[in-house]
Amino acid sequence: MSNPSLLILPGDGIGPEVMAEVRKIITWFGDNRGLHFDVSEDLVGGAAYDKHGVPLADETMAKAQEVDAVLLGAVGGPAYDDLDFSVKPERGLLRLRKEMDLFSNLRPAQCFDALADFSSLKKDIVAGLDIMIVRELTSGVYFGEPRGIFEEGNERVGINTQRYTESEIERAARSAFELAMRRGKKVCSMEKANVMESGILWREVATRVGKEYPEVELSHMYADNGAMQLVRAPKQFDVILTDNLFGDILSDCAAMLTGSLGMLPSASLGAPMANGRPKAMYEPVHGSAPDITGQGKANPIACILSFAMALRYSFDQGDEAARLEAAIEQVLSNGARTADLLGEEGATPLSTSEMGDTIIVALDKSL
Ligand code: NAI
Ligand code: MG
Repeated sequence: MSNPSLLILPGDGIGPEVMAEVRKIITWFGDNRGLHFDVSEDLVGGAAYDKHGVPLADETMAKAQEVDAVLLGAVGGPAYDDLDFSVKPERGLLRLRKEMDLFSNLRPAQCFDALADFSSLKKDIVAGLDIMIVRELTSGVYFGEPRGIFEEGNERVGINTQRYTESEIERAARSAFELAMRRGKKVCSMEKANVMESGILWREVATRVGKEYPEVELSHMYADNGAMQLVRAPKQFDVILTDNLFGDILSDCAAMLTGSLGMLPSASLGAPMANGRPKAMYEPVHGSAPDITGQGKANPIACILSFAMALRYSFDQGDEAARLEAAIEQVLSNGARTADLLGEEGATPLSTSEMGDTIIVALDKSL
């Protein structure tokens, strides 16, 4: 059988810098765990625009559709701010999500004990936190019609429409329940069924799908209460299932419980392919960080953790993903810090590549 395939799209700014560290990790798993990938690399975002005049070439799109998983760094930067909307770097990312139909966005919020002091919340509220937000990514108010700014009488009206079909809710819900089966067996579905019909349907469909997973405990919460509970007592949650708009806000809120943007991975999953693997793209939550580009300051952990998610969700290598996460936990407990993980004063930070090397040493020790 051929090796699983991985398309790497480093993108712009610190994207290529953090991806270089992921490359080291991929090589390590090949050398030491017999996990070999057919890795190809291509351009996305501003880097693709510079070469092709578009933020994602058709050939790259076609390749993304064929591989087992895409790993993306980040796109964008000041050099591209004045480009026309149609060729902005972000459009490359949106095209990938849309054409691969990646409807389920997984945003973990996990607090490494060594970084618990970094949270804006009290240490005991976040230490050991491990929750997963499943955000529906391809429908809802960001896509619903009608939309636009229209004339109405002697003023204008801005309109967006929250629209969800049963099948859209169903596939997102199923992905949340499947995840819960591999985790803490709890799903909390968040909407506003008290004031929105789409929320009533959401609750109904989530309940119906939940019946197929009797082992999973399903609860429902209004999304505004959900936001309060996330900062009051986040450890009550395991998997949170929610729509595109609420998910956008709730996942950013949950992310900050854990400290730095440089630590946050994500996965976007679609329907299963012929080989049973879901269409998948993995990427750190952060952007291209132009303020620190080229200075060796970027924290590669968000991108490395995104690869760990790929190991778990695309390649059925949960144990190896756990090994990688444990190595990261280990180096953090030993005090390894990139600049974003240090306060004003403090020890000398590790550079991007030093952090990658330190994680490799911890992986070696795990054997
Ligand atoms: P950003 O995430 O790039 O940076 C925000 C702040 O966090 C900056 O101070 C940055 O230095 C810091 N930071 C981010 N990642 C870090 C890391 N790995 N290690 C250490 N520090 C890190 O967001 P910003 O500044 O709003 O956007 C910059 C560019 O990135 C823009 O062009 C924006 O459109 C683009 N962007 C791209 C995203 C993507 O590719 N998915 C997501 C967000 C923004
Ligand atoms: Mg957001």
